Amino acid sequence: MKVDERWSGVYSFEDSPFIMEVLTELRDRNTDSIAFRKGLVKLGRYMGYELTKTMEVEEVEVETPLEKTKGVVVKDRRNVVIITVLRAAIPLMEGLIKVFEHARVGVVSASRGKAPKFEIEMNYIKIPDLKPEDTVIVADPMIATGSTLIKVLEEIEKYGKPKRTIVLGVLAAPEGISRIKEQFPEVEIFVAKVDRELDEKGYILPGLGDAGDRAFGAP
Ligand code: URA
Repeated sequence: MKVDERWSGVYSFEDSPFIMEVLTELRDRNTDSIAFRKGLVKLGRYMGYELTKTMEVEEVEVETPLEKTKGVVVKDRRNVVIITVLRAAIPLMEGLIKVFEHARVGVVSASRGKAPKFEIEMNYIKIPDLKPEDTVIVADPMIATGSTLIKVLEEIEKYGKPKRTIVLGVLAAPEGISRIKEQFPEVEIFVAKVDRELDEKGYILPGLGDAGDRAFGAP
């Protein structure tokens, strides 16, 4: 995990060769939908595993078949809420839930309108009540303009005050991160990589194209 010095609370997984290899496969225009979805599941799982390194652990006693010894449990792993931003986050959530199997899962349908306004439409919102011990992980593979996530984060605030709110993405544009951080300085952002910039249509460059279209084979 690498700290991105441009903001506080922003981390990438550029130092993980495996995560970078999966990202390379996702970027490749020749990767088909099946491999693309599988790649997102893998990233959910491995980025979720990396996230556990930032979580509170507790020392416990365990009895092996031979004797007592000390062990650990990742306490925060038991209090995770995953918010799935439809639709591209579905495979990412599938991977995350393999690490956070106790997670309560919320679903938000938010889609971006057309340029130049990119207005966000939210059609479906199902978020569980949030407790002070919860870690909320908002899964959205592509952090582009940040507009969708800002709307989602505004909505999440209505359900309680969790211990941590994390945005977990695959790629982010610096513009999107800055906008989210401006409005939500406490929100932590973890991505495989922060890419260069947005194009005039709001796509991340070099990016991987439209994650939803590529994962589901349908525009
Ligand atoms: N959403 C995507 O799926 N891709 C981008 O590049 C930007 C937003």
